[in-house]
Amino acid sequence: MQKRFIESLEFPIGEVNQASSSEKGPGRPPFWEMVFWWTRKPLIGARAVIAASLLPEDVDAEKFKKMICLDKSSPHRNNPEIPPEWKEFFSGKKLLDPFAGFGNIPLEALRLGLSATAVELIPTACLFLKAVLEYPKKFGKELVEDVERWGNWITEKLKEDKDLKEIYDDDVAVYIGTWEIKCPWCKRWTPAIGNFWLARVKDSRKRYTRLAFMKPKLKGDEDAIDIVDLNKMHTDISGAKVNTKNREILIDGKTYKVPEANIASRKN
Ligand SMILES: C[S@@+](CC[C@H](N)C(=O)[O-])C[C@H]1O[C@@H](n2cnc3c(N)ncnc32)[C@H](O)[C@@H]1O
Repeated sequence: MQKRFIESLEFPIGEVNQASSSEKGPGRPPFWEMVFWWTRKPLIGARAVIAASLLPEDVDAEKFKKMICLDKSSPHRNNPEIPPEWKEFFSGKKLLDPFAGFGNIPLEALRLGLSATAVELIPTACLFLKAVLEYPKKFGKELVEDVERWGNWITEKLKEDKDLKEIYDDDVAVYIGTWEIKCPWCKRWTPAIGNFWLARVKDSRKRYTRLAFMKPKLKGDEDAIDIVDLNKMHTDISGAKVNTKNREILIDGKTYKVPEANIASRKN
């Protein structure tokens, strides 16, 4: 049997790894935010492996990279473009993923023009597989409108729920959940926080644009958290110097200390 491109030394493994690693970072696909799932495979990695398993060993590597969009800054945000003369290697091919999870591998098979069968044990994942692999193709743009309409409907209904109103305030953008530990001596509950930073954002010129952190304080007999928002406290934070090791921030001659984590995750 003729060897495939994936077996060739020309297969751009380094570039695929690099793009896969970026994809798993802040640029990850938006639908991944819907729910956490374990060991999701990067779309570009899946795309490269599927495509290279079908193409013959001696195809042009540069043409392959262009086809899978490795020349773009976020390859997974673009559909692959198969050159007409390579279509025969993809059309009529089928992919079977017996442990499909959230369907990243079959999704890339579909984007390459293959047909795909996804198998999954867990009902939640099965439902999401339908949402990712079946419904967009079946319902097209109408699906976007429906999701938006019903999503807003649910949000409005939840706002009317008096039990939820009691827990969530209107003006809160984000809630951070933590474990709490009760001191056996004073009986006070303390949140276990592994990182007090809220924002440490730089622009493309490496100047700070957003700096904020949390600071615990005592409120009566209870622990509370203050938000130290340096953007609100200084008109311009672009000249800030941040030492992430000792958690010190220097702005306009003033030093701020971000509290030290009071819990450490196990490293091994
Ligand atoms: C590592 S995850 C797959 C992740 C997937 N490739 C992705 O990128 O989202 C493995 C999946 O296999 C599923 N699984 C485990 N045993 C299975 C079985 N016997 N039959 C079907 N699915 C199974 C698990 O529920 C889990 O979602």
